[in-house]
This record gives sequence, structure tokens and C-alpha cells, in this order.
Amino acid sequence: MKGKLPDEVIESFSKRGIGKLTPPQALSVEYGLLEGRNFVVAAPTASGKTLIAEMAMLKGIIWNRKKAVYVAPMRALVSEKYHEFKEAYPYVKSAMSIGDLDSLDNWLYEYDIVFASTEKLDSLIRHGASWLDSVGCIIFDEVHMLDDPSRGPTLEILITRLKRIARDAQVIALSATIGNTKELAEWLGSELIESDYRPVELRKGIEQNGTIYYADGEERLDSNDKAAELRIEQNTLEMGKQLLLFYSTKRNAEAGAEKLSFDISQRLKPEEKKELKEVAAKILGALGRPTAQCEKLARLIERGVAFHHSGLVNEQRHAVEEAFKANKIKAICSTTTLGMGVNLPAHTVVVRDTVRYEEHHGSTHMSVNIVTQLFGRAGRPKYDKMGRALLIAKSKDDMKSLYERYMNGELEPIESKLGIENVLRTHILSFIATKFLTSKESISDFMSGTFYGYQYSDMHDLNRILDRVLKELEGWRFIEAHGSIYRATKIGERVSELYIDPMSAKWLIDSLPKATDGISVLFMIANTVEMRPYVKIVEEAEERFYKYQSMVDGGSHIVSEEYLGYYDPLKPFSTSIMLNDWVSEKHEQEITFKYGTTPGALYTKINNADWLLYSSAELAKLMRVSSRKLIEMRVRMRYGIKEELMDLVRLEGIGRVRARALFNSGITDVKSLRKEGARSSAEKILGKELAKRVYNQINE
Ligand SMILES: Nc1ncnc2c1ncn2[C@@H]1O[C@H](COP(=O)(O)OP(=O)(O)OP(=O)(O)O)[C@@H](O)[C@H]1O
Ligand SMILES: [Mg+2]
Repeated sequence: MKGKLPDEVIESFSKRGIGKLTPPQALSVEYGLLEGRNFVVAAPTASGKTLIAEMAMLKGIIWNRKKAVYVAPMRALVSEKYHEFKEAYPYVKSAMSIGDLDSLDNWLYEYDIVFASTEKLDSLIRHGASWLDSVGCIIFDEVHMLDDPSRGPTLEILITRLKRIARDAQVIALSATIGNTKELAEWLGSELIESDYRPVELRKGIEQNGTIYYADGEERLDSNDKAAELRIEQNTLEMGKQLLLFYSTKRNAEAGAEKLSFDISQRLKPEEKKELKEVAAKILGALGRPTAQCEKLARLIERGVAFHHSGLVNEQRHAVEEAFKANKIKAICSTTTLGMGVNLPAHTVVVRDTVRYEEHHGSTHMSVNIVTQLFGRAGRPKYDKMGRALLIAKSKDDMKSLYERYMNGELEPIESKLGIENVLRTHILSFIATKFLTSKESISDFMSGTFYGYQYSDMHDLNRILDRVLKELEGWRFIEAHGSIYRATKIGERVSELYIDPMSAKWLIDSLPKATDGISVLFMIANTVEMRPYVKIVEEAEERFYKYQSMVDGGSHIVSEEYLGYYDPLKPFSTSIMLNDWVSEKHEQEITFKYGTTPGALYTKINNADWLLYSSAELAKLMRVSSRKLIEMRVRMRYGIKEELMDLVRLEGIGRVRARALFNSGITDVKSLRKEGARSSAEKILGKELAKRVYNQINE
């Protein structure tokens, strides 16, 4: 590679133990990766696709002085890639942008490479980030997500748009699980690099009644335990290895961890138990006061096993992953949240459930693509020489059908999911608001350049949606027609920047004058697409709804959305009652129990509520309506507090629990901390250390 890449890069490679390129890497270089050609790289999990992206980006940055962008659909993956890159190439200025969607992030100009999530990059375009025009290299990782109904359409629009904005950029798309690679490469106008190279042998098999059946032999497990997971777990731990098990639901994942915990705990050494206690303490400390779920997770972690799903808050998920990487936790029982792109030291992966039950759809088989992604977490080169990926069969017949479907089965082709109206609505507004496309013809032309347009030459359906959406946006006064040219109104521009669904925005605008008390403000923000899925309907919601019913009377919002399923206003209303419980300082445990939800889901709702309150306040300003109530509610939402604590939480280190304790002891605001005797009671409540920090803040 000498001479083809900057010397410092080659040095960094060898520091990381990368001497020889893997076959897909070598092929890419041979076919012009470093001369700026576009590629779709289709190669198995763990074959080193990231390094292909890195080579292209680094060469462009160091030798051609061109910026690079790395995009992935999941924030967790973006974050992992960013941290690894920063550590490996400290001489490159790298930045991560995954947060606040209403910001231009002008500081990004200073950086050579930006790691961003799909949505964040889309929002940067909406704010007019002009540096994107001159970017030299764009990476789309996990590009099979085009197929995902919820995240695919935005990715598809983003790819199509970036290819137009940054015409000269080198575009590289990576994936391990695409059946129709040729089609994708043709759409992108790219070379196709295909390889079936695996750096570590991945042994795929099916366990049945104590024996693992591989394509080329059998392995008898030395355990007569009744449960297959336990047999595999024992076998894996006896080799001194770790395992990852995938389940179809959160509940199954938790039950799975429970099931393994006794056996695993028996195998732990005393010093391991001590380390695990520390991890458990971190889990318990993640919220103000631990919930039942936190306690359960902590208890399991002390026994060497964890569950991992969207019900955990981010800090907990991160702690579980780190403890697994450090070989403290021996097994993780996960939903597919851990499924894509990540490097974990799992020697063995078990996909326990391959059938999923979905409301409205009944039971469906997991796709070969997804199972392949999950299998791909086993035996990562950083950690292992060999990996094992297993399914579990209940009977010989079951084994036959699993074998046909998943061992013999081929990867499925990915299909565009662009025809989803509410996604198109937000993007069409964004095209017009940023003056990127301003006529029906140019939008229609753009649409025919998408993967959808490529796959379905008949654009009739999409054009019909386009007509309808343009009419809607015009009717809502987000855009205006001037002859054949559309222009966004001030409010339309702002809605596009705020990254909220125009339909939600319309509802917020109509409701703002009616939102006069706390509950109506909360109902206003809860009754939006962004707050879905709503929580279950509680009795309290049914009892209180009559007072707020008029807010939705006669409105055509959301109700008309056939694709969102049956709309019952009681559901979003119940969600607003939950948010009201949160800002009334109800404990997380009580809330998650009452509404049948999890801390992770609660915090996601709180975050979305925060965003919608901010957006409502921004819209209120444009409409010259007072935004004071909204801004106040936003502070309360952030901290989960009643109004009376708003002054105290301004202090760093003071959250809802401590502020309440201070308040109840008579320290009701920052001013009263200066009163005589206040310091000693503050010290009693906060501890000496924190009290000192608090008083330093006041004295500044
Ligand atoms: N040439 C190489 N020599 C040694 N190790 C390498 C080489 N290339 C990559 N690796 C290591 O292999 C591991 C897997 O690579 P990577 O994460 O890029 O896989 P991937 O192809 O993106 O897989 P997935 O489809 O699962 O995302 C990483 O730990 C990486 O550091
Ligand atoms: Mg990858």
C-alpha cells in the first residue's frame, strides 16, 4: 500500500494490527477505490468493509484536502465508528453529529470528517449546510436499511439528494445482506465489489435435542439440560467464551436472561463477582431512583448475564455493552437492538426466535437478511478465530424447515419503501423550503431518480401522492404556488427545519390557541405522529378526556391516515396523562407500571416531547402567540418536575430527586441556599462534595 495511501495512515494500520488487506479490501483498491470510483461493496459480515470506507476517506482528506462524510442509520453505530476512527487516526479532525435536529452545526466546517446519522445529515441539508456541496467522499454504511419501512425512505431520499448536491463526490455503499446487489449498483452508478470472504470461520448450525447439526458434521453437546439455550450456554462458557442470544420480544429476552442466570452465576470467580457488582451499581444509578426493570437487570448482571432492548435507557445499554466487551458479562439476551454492524466478542450467537408476532400481521418469519446480520455478530476478527451461529429446532421437522429457509436460503432482494405518504410529505416540503426543487415537474423528476423510480418504472402511484401532498401543503399554508413554481412560506420553512411532520405542525398550529392549561399543552404535543406508538389507555385518561375532547372535534388531522391504523384520541390523551405524571414528579417505577411501559420507552417519549415543545414554542413565536407556557413546560419535561422546582434545577448536579429533597427541607430556590443554616442542611441532603460544587456555582 506504500505510495497509494499517506504514510501516517499505513503506520496507523500497522499499529492496529492490520498488515494485509482482506480480499474485498484488496479488490476495491484494485478496481479504483483510491482513484475515486464509486462502489457498492457487498461482502459478508466482519469482512472489513469499514476499512474500505476509511481508506477512501483518508486519502481524500489528507492528499486531496476534501471533507468526508460517514452516514449510518443507527446512532449507536455512528457513535461506535466515530470513536474507533478518532482513536485510530488522531491526526484527522473528526466530528460526530447525531443530536439536535434544529441546528446548522456551523462548527462542522472546521472538521475533515463528519460521522452522522441519516436523519441528522438530512436535517443539516435542510438548514443549508453549504459545505456538503464540496464534500469529497460519502459513505453509506448498512445500506440494506433502504428496505426498512421506517428508516428506509429517508435514507433513500438522502442518497438521491446528496448525489445531486455533491455531484463530484465519491460514493461508497456498504452492506453484507443484499440479494439484488447488481440492481443497487446500477441505480447508484457504481462498480460492484462482491466477495464471499470471511476472516473468521463462521460455523452455522442448528441445535436439536443436544446435538448441533452443521452442513459438514455434528457436534454433541455435553449437557443434558432441558433447555437448548442452557445447553449451548454451558458449552460456550466451558470453552471460556461468551455468547449473544437474540429473541423476538423484550419479554422473551428478559426471560432468557433469567433462565441462564443460575448456571452462569455458578461459574463466576469471586473477583468476577466483585467487578459485576460495580457494573450493577452503574445500572441502578442510571435513573434518579431505580425502577423494577433496573433492579432486575442489576440483579441479573451480578450473576453474569444481561438483557438488552429498547426498554433500557442509553446509559444502561452502553454499560452492558462495555461490560460484555470486557468479558465481565458472559452472555447477553437481546432483541435485535444489537443486531447490526457492531463488533462484540461473541464467540457464539444464538437466534432463539425466528418467528415474530406482529399486531395486524400475525406471525411472520424473520428474513434471511436479518438472520444473517444477527449471525454476523459471532466470531468477530478482533476477538476470535472462529465463530458459531446457531438456530434452535424443537423437532426434526422443525429442523428441516429451518435448514431450508436459513441455511440453504438466499439473501432477499431489498425493495424501496418510498411510497409512504407521511415521509414523502416531509421531504417534499423540505425540497421546496430549501429551494432545491420548486416545481412539480422537478420533484417528479427527482422521484424517478430514486431507487423506487429505478425499481418501479411506473411512477403513477408516486405522482398521485405528490399531487395530493402539494395540495395539502398549500392548503395548510406551508407553501404557495406562483405559476408553476412553489415557494415555502415563512412558517413552512420553519416546519421543514424543525424536522417535524407537516401534519403534526398543522395540528400544533391549530391547537396552540386552545392549549391553555398543562394538560392541554401536553395533549397538543402528544397527539402527533412523532409520539407514536402511544401508551395504553388508563382509567384516569378515560375520566378526564371529556374536558379536552373539543380539541380534536371536527379536526381532520391524523384520523384520515389509513396507514397509521385505527385512531382513537384516547390513546394520545393517555400519553399526555403519562407526561403529566412525569412533570408531577411521579416516580419512574410508578409510571412504567401504570402505563405498561419501560424506562427506555418513557425516556424516548420525554425526548420527543421536549422536541415538540421546543418546536411548538418556535411556531408560536412566528404566529405571535405567547410561548411562555411552552418554554416553562419544556424545562419541567426535561427534569420531570413541578413548577416550584424550576429555579433549583438550574444548578448543575441538581435533578428532580435532589431538588425535591432540598425544597421539602425549606430550601425552595437558589436564593434560599444563601440563608443562614442552609449550607448545613444542604450538606446533609447532597453530601459534602456536591454541596461544595453547588455553593461554588452560586458564588460565581
Ligand atoms: N485487513 C485487516 N486485517 C486485520 N483486521 C482487520 C482488517 N480489516 C478489518 N479488520 C478488523 O475486522 C473487524 C471487522 O471489520 P468491520 O467492522 O469493518 O466488518 P464489516 O465488514 O463492516 O461487518 P458488518 O457487515 O458486520 O458491519 C474489525 O475489528 C476490524 O478492525
Ligand atoms: Mg460494518
